[in-house]
Amino acid sequence: MENLDWKNLGFGYRKSDYNVRCYYRDGKWGELEISSSETINIHMSATALHYGQEAFEGLKAFMGKDGKIRVFRMDENAKRMQDSSDGILMAKLPVEKFQEAVRIAVKMNTHFVPPYESGASLYIRPLLIGTGPQIGVKPANEYLFMVFVMPVGPYFPEGFKPTDLIIMREYDRAAPQGTGKYKVGGNYAASMVEGKKAKEGGFSAVLYLDSKEKKYLDECGPANFFGIKNKTYITPLSDSILPSITNKSLIVLAEEMGLKVERRKVPYEELAEFEEVGACGTAAVISPIKGVYDSDKDKWFKYGDEPGVWSEKLYNKLRAIQYGDEPDKYGWVEVID
Ligand code: PLP
Ligand code: COI
Repeated sequence: MENLDWKNLGFGYRKSDYNVRCYYRDGKWGELEISSSETINIHMSATALHYGQEAFEGLKAFMGKDGKIRVFRMDENAKRMQDSSDGILMAKLPVEKFQEAVRIAVKMNTHFVPPYESGASLYIRPLLIGTGPQIGVKPANEYLFMVFVMPVGPYFPEGFKPTDLIIMREYDRAAPQGTGKYKVGGNYAASMVEGKKAKEGGFSAVLYLDSKEKKYLDECGPANFFGIKNKTYITPLSDSILPSITNKSLIVLAEEMGLKVERRKVPYEELAEFEEVGACGTAAVISPIKGVYDSDKDKWFKYGDEPGVWSEKLYNKLRAIQYGDEPDKYGWVEVID
């Protein structure tokens, strides 16, 4: 086990020992390779560098009380990377290859998996990039898939303490029929200006409205949005938000807890009706929201300084499954041994 300050890790890059790589050349994927280098050597005209042919994933491994390491729903991440590949015309990596690469990356770096008591986890970052040279706007004929890992704490430094979101109508993260539903780098580049503004104003993330009409709640920074009212878990249905695996899991857990679930368009006005609001994602887990500030109308929606009861129950339940404290009745976790 590494000697790190596990409880105060934060969410940042940290070197681990090994990463896994796989090259696509001559129309086929090669064997998985293990590397100890942090750098890659690619052609200056690679499509990833010029035209954003790049997709990534984010998932986590957790050390249980029983000393076992569990990875959460990696088949879902593998499939989503395939969707992203279809979305920007990259070679599709087989699901099994993705899973095997994740298993090897975790196994080769087990001493970086944070201990159970720390509440931290091992963040796994798969990455797929177009490496073949092009100067016309068209897909590469060569690709590189990589998986690297690092121990992390919560994405929002406050962890499970509620934070604020901000609405700024002059910014869009993605176009209505654009790439918002894919996990491709361009969406994140497009969110940096307003993301920085939000942080500078003391907000943890931007709450986007739909970019066509500005009537409905959309994506929530690097996470999905949910609101709870009248024992109902409500989350936006939109073509421009990333289909979050955390959200998909919370929907199952919410139903199991007796909440109704609605995935539908969520009008902006409904912000005034929610009893609890949260942002959810792999990195964010559940980040409870205490307030949403509408910067155009200078108006606040407030949800209380403590996490709501349902948010807390959902958070605890999800974490219990991930760390192996509760039985995994949905087959969401794989023990890495
Ligand atoms: N939305 C965006 C834009 C994200 O980057 C993420 C993170 O992956 C999510 C939502 C949450 O998705 P997931 O729960 O699969 O991590
Ligand atoms: C994740 O939750 O895994 C993400 O990818 C969010 C962010 C770090 C981009």
